[in-house]
Amino acid sequence: MLAENKVKTIGVMTSGGDAPGMNAAIRAVVYEGIRHGLKVLGIRRGYSGLLQEDIREMDEKSVADIIRLGGTILETSRCPEMMTDEGQAKAVEICRKHQMDGLIVIGGDGSFRGAQKLSARGMGIIGVPGTIDGDIACTDYTIGFDTAVNAAMEAIDRIHDTGASHECCSIVEVMGRHNGSIALWTGIAGGAEMVCIPERKVPTVNEIAEDVLSKRRQGRNDYILVNAEGVGHTQELRQAMEEDTGIHTRQTVLGFLQRGGVPTCKERVFASVMGTKAVDLLLEGRTNRVVVHRDGRFSDVSIDEVLTQEVYFADDLYQCMKAVCGQGN
Ligand code: ADP
Ligand code: F6P
Repeated sequence: MLAENKVKTIGVMTSGGDAPGMNAAIRAVVYEGIRHGLKVLGIRRGYSGLLQEDIREMDEKSVADIIRLGGTILETSRCPEMMTDEGQAKAVEICRKHQMDGLIVIGGDGSFRGAQKLSARGMGIIGVPGTIDGDIACTDYTIGFDTAVNAAMEAIDRIHDTGASHECCSIVEVMGRHNGSIALWTGIAGGAEMVCIPERKVPTVNEIAEDVLSKRRQGRNDYILVNAEGVGHTQELRQAMEEDTGIHTRQTVLGFLQRGGVPTCKERVFASVMGTKAVDLLLEGRTNRVVVHRDGRFSDVSIDEVLTQEVYFADDLYQCMKAVCGQGN
């Protein structure tokens, strides 16, 4: 049973990079809010829309049929104005003007930094982790990661087929601004020969070329290297690999291909749970929290903790990658 509360109106926004499953979270916020008699305001285009008062009331109709859609129906943005004191003061003023007792921010760590600033100015804030990069501390799930890795894995499978047919090498660049999780997961699942991530030493071009040639001698007729965006230099690497090995080498930057798309079942369910939890926290009078999933349970931690803790690096996954990709030490 939720305690009697003073919360009457809440806002919800998506911010930063969009992620499949964000719509499920929005839908759950709207349903749970309405179930508890709240007015739910949808803020379009993240902090930019808030600062431009692009705000509208949402009801069941506005979220009908969105659970299966990628992207975010509220749209999203990066908003430089929100980085300034004036922008943050204006944002709180607009929330107050619209009588928002709480604001749910679905986004990544940048969006949470903005939310933390609003919280410091007295706004009731709840964060819901939404980023395909999977790089938020204190949670083992972020909305969008599961769909993104499945999309990237499928792309790698396709590249494998054609690479093997032409006996060529392929470098596949996957997203992950500062984080190699997408690369590790898709490298293991896609049966890659090598994975380069920003968290660990990246092999030199010489080492990569030697690995390509030694695997060729062992009878492999193709070679897939998954390179995390955070490592970068994909084009230069392709050229250097081709020169050093004499083997035709192609690069494929997956980019938005892995960010859009139909959310997986897990995304739809987890994002729905997180959306309802976010509303429940506000109803319980709790604020400055992030809904998380860890050790098999949904719970919440303070935004401050999420933003100061280190993002967990799954060394087990890294060790496994080295074994199954045959990457040596
Ligand atoms: P994500 O939320 O996916 O990490 P960004 O890092 O681009 O995406 O952040 C989204 C938005 O959050 C930024 O465009 C900005 O408006 C806001 N933001 C990011 N960092 C801060 C900060 N330190 N202070 C205030 N707002 C911030
Ligand atoms: O935050 C998710 C992410 O996909 C990062 O991996 C990537 O660096 C970034 O968004 C790119 O986003 P955009 O092209 O929209 O700036």
